Amino acid sequence: MFDIKLLVKKLVGKKNIQRFRTMFIYPMKLKQNYLMDYHLYKKHSTIFTRNTFSKLECEITLRYHSIEKGFVHSPIRSGFGKQRVIELIELLKNGTIMEHFGSVQVQAAINILCKYFEMHQTNGFDISDYYPEADYQFFKTMLISDFGTKKEHSKESFFLFSNADFKSFSTSRCSVRSFSGEKISKEIIREVITLANNAPSVCNRQPAFVYLIENKILIDTILSIQGGLKSHTETLNQLIVLTCNRNYFYSIGERNQLYIDGGIYLMNLLYALHYYQIAACPCHWGMPVKADKQIRTLLSLKESEQVISLIAIGIPTETFATTLSPRRNYNENLNVID
Ligand SMILES: Cc1cc2nc3c(=O)[nH]c(=O)nc-3n(C[C@H](O)[C@H](O)[C@H](O)COP(=O)(O)O)c2cc1C
Repeated sequence: MFDIKLLVKKLVGKKNIQRFRTMFIYPMKLKQNYLMDYHLYKKHSTIFTRNTFSKLECEITLRYHSIEKGFVHSPIRSGFGKQRVIELIELLKNGTIMEHFGSVQVQAAINILCKYFEMHQTNGFDISDYYPEADYQFFKTMLISDFGTKKEHSKESFFLFSNADFKSFSTSRCSVRSFSGEKISKEIIREVITLANNAPSVCNRQPAFVYLIENKILIDTILSIQGGLKSHTETLNQLIVLTCNRNYFYSIGERNQLYIDGGIYLMNLLYALHYYQIAACPCHWGMPVKADKQIRTLLSLKESEQVISLIAIGIPTETFATTLSPRRNYNENLNVID
């Protein structure tokens, strides 16, 4: 049978075909794939529409988590997070949300709003202009269980399970935002990174790189671009910047693999820090390209490197509080396909 592919290969030559693919076919396919990523993100993220429960759940979580962080502050500022509270009240009155009022995230939001009202009532601080009592009474009827406002720790109790079995160890880790200012030695940091390097990666390509920043001006500049650790930075003297290098990825299908390998590395790094009794808070770098360029310039990163996350680290204060950040029950995210 006549094979057209074989004939073309013979006439044009294998090398030229490969060159043609590299110059024209692959860039076109890469563009198509990124375009599909763009369409899916545009349609299904929460930027443009709030037409599903998941999107609304995302919106309420953003707001209740921000209010939750306000409770961790010492001293707590009366009237904190006013705009967030107004928006959260509005969102929680949405019928779709209330159909799922028993879910963990909705309950966590209702709980924090109840606690917010009760705290202001106890302090005699009037918030009726943005949070009417009638709303509080409504939320109170929807609250299934009391979560409290925050988790309180002493430095000693927080690290009690840092060398324990995995279940206790993993359960005891959480994000700490209260740093004493004391620095971790380079020697310990080397041990931490050696342990974090156990993270698996695609074909063991190990695309993750770690930068330890100890220059306070640089730390403050980076965090001001990032903006997610407000008012916790005064005594923060060490910051990790985790990157993944695109050079380690070779196919169109792997175009987002750096975020997977970076995420796996991040988790193992957080565990390694906890193991060595170092307080840590990951700080998102889901930033637009302008911020990417700024941090690349500040740290002289290669253009091929993508910042995955920042991690604030240090010795915690003697006592401190962390957010509740309750987790879903498994029946909210486990799907069995027979
Ligand atoms: C990728 C990532 C980015 C995060 N960014 C921030 C941040 O910018 N600011 C902050 O205070 N916490 C940040 N956090 C911490 C989360 O708020 C925290 O992990 C979540 O509430 C769960 O609580 P836990 O870590 O205490 O268990 C981030 C966490 C992750 C994993």
